[in-house]
Amino acid sequence: MERTSRTGERGKLWVPDEPTWWQRGIVYQIYPRSFRDASGDGVGDLAGIREKADYLAWLGIDAVWLSPIYPSPDVDLGYDISDYRDIHPAFGTLEDFDALVAALHERGIKLILDLVPNHTSDQHPWFFESRDPESARHDWYVWREGRPDGSRPNNWVSYFGEPAWRYLDPPGKWYLHSFDPGQPDLNWDNPQVQEAIHDAMRFWLDRGVDGFRVDVLWLLGKDPELRDNPPNPDWHDALPSRLMLNRVHSEDGPDAHDRARSLRAVIDEYPDRVMIAEMVLPPARAVTYHGADLDEAHMPHNFALAELPEWTADAVRAEVEAYEAVLPEGAWPNWLLGDHDFPRIASRVGPERVRLLHMLLLTLRGTPTWYYGDELGLPNAVVPPSKVGFPDPQAALGTELDRLPVRSPMQWSRGPNAGFSEAEPWLPLASDNPAMTVEGQRQDSDSVLNLFRSLVRLRKETPALAVGAYRTVPAPDGVFSFERYHPDGRVQVHLNFGEGPREVEIPEDQEVVLSTAGKAAPPRAERLELRGHEGAIIGRPEQRGGKVKGSRPTGPLPSTVPPSG
Ligand code: GLC
Repeated sequence: MERTSRTGERGKLWVPDEPTWWQRGIVYQIYPRSFRDASGDGVGDLAGIREKADYLAWLGIDAVWLSPIYPSPDVDLGYDISDYRDIHPAFGTLEDFDALVAALHERGIKLILDLVPNHTSDQHPWFFESRDPESARHDWYVWREGRPDGSRPNNWVSYFGEPAWRYLDPPGKWYLHSFDPGQPDLNWDNPQVQEAIHDAMRFWLDRGVDGFRVDVLWLLGKDPELRDNPPNPDWHDALPSRLMLNRVHSEDGPDAHDRARSLRAVIDEYPDRVMIAEMVLPPARAVTYHGADLDEAHMPHNFALAELPEWTADAVRAEVEAYEAVLPEGAWPNWLLGDHDFPRIASRVGPERVRLLHMLLLTLRGTPTWYYGDELGLPNAVVPPSKVGFPDPQAALGTELDRLPVRSPMQWSRGPNAGFSEAEPWLPLASDNPAMTVEGQRQDSDSVLNLFRSLVRLRKETPALAVGAYRTVPAPDGVFSFERYHPDGRVQVHLNFGEGPREVEIPEDQEVVLSTAGKAAPPRAERLELRGHEGAIIGRPEQRGGKVKGSRPTGPLPSTVPPSG
């Protein structure tokens, strides 16, 4: 059998002594407009999410991250907030929110809210006040005079692709918007702004929220002089206009780290809370947001897989090793395949590889974040122009991905509107196949949903998978193989990214614990033939069932990893 190592062995021999809930857990992202509509208006809501709390518990996930639920004119579907201390009327009330927190906590599920500190809506009362140059809030946003020739204060381009400044009179100045003009940037150089956001965080933490996912954290540090960004020499017509400039002065400056630390300090005022941060940066830069003293985000999101251009074993292995290599000592890793801004995995990698990606995400070292509906293998929806009530500002400029198809309703049952709503859903369903529903897949033991659930359960029951160390191991061509190691046991994971079959060895005393193909190898087999796009987890049968408890110290690892078997 071919067993060539092209990578050697490396990895982090580090296991947390007392893993926190967010280290051993799985985070599940819900797009609130699209999970379940209890009020019958075609738009998902908080009461709908509460109705589905038992589903979340059945799945076995540990924490829910909700995309923004605050009042918003929905220029960027909730990422333009007009009040940081209330609930969007479409989603319910603060009472609904409290009831949701209680329902999740009763089931041992944590709740993480999206926090959008870089910008508000232009309909936020702070922005109205700031338009008055005499107002105490004038300096809460980034207002500047134009250049002497009347042009914009600098050459920055917004993430949605147009110039990042808009002129308003009053006050007769330009304001900065890193996204849509309806999302003016707050002035984070102003301590009052920082305090206002910190207080908004406390408002929700006091209500029992278990943490935040901080939107575009790296944008909180801009060049104090707002200097022009230099041109990007690699830009060409086929790339989006937001990439025309190298964004060296408009983001990721040293101040972003001070601000990250200040947000973390608020989190740390409360016990057992988590700070996650959006970080669409190359991993080497993203991990700096753990903080030099691990005092910034607990988990700056790792988008390496979300942005992977090709899904080969070599490409995936290289990303995993590169991330492991740059992760600072003591920092806890995390992985996601995508979120509400990326095409759904079934559409990105093809339905035939969905099961393999489930196994990849749920066996890597680090907290997985899962996007609702991917557990059914939902594809992107087709959204006809007539259905676009809330156009995506990113798509409006024509060059970038329209994110609406990624945000279609969760599919629950074979009933009308897939059980999402009694009324016509705000976006079309991604599929009218009854098998693409929770009801359809729950009954089918071979379904993607049941594979997801088995993987979740196995991860929780196997300390090596939940919190163990990682190392790459030799693999046949086209296969990505790694080992997860823990004092309580070890497992090997083999993921065949190729089309053709490949053989891997099964060490003595071990067996196939789970395969994406749903088959078991015969007892005491020495080899396993992986089919194309099949993944398998191999371990000792008795290693299962050692529950990962938060409070139980697992003891230090030996300094070298003993040989397998
Ligand atoms: C983040 C969000 C995205 C939003 C943007 C502006 O990238 O994930 O959906 O458009 O921030 O708030």
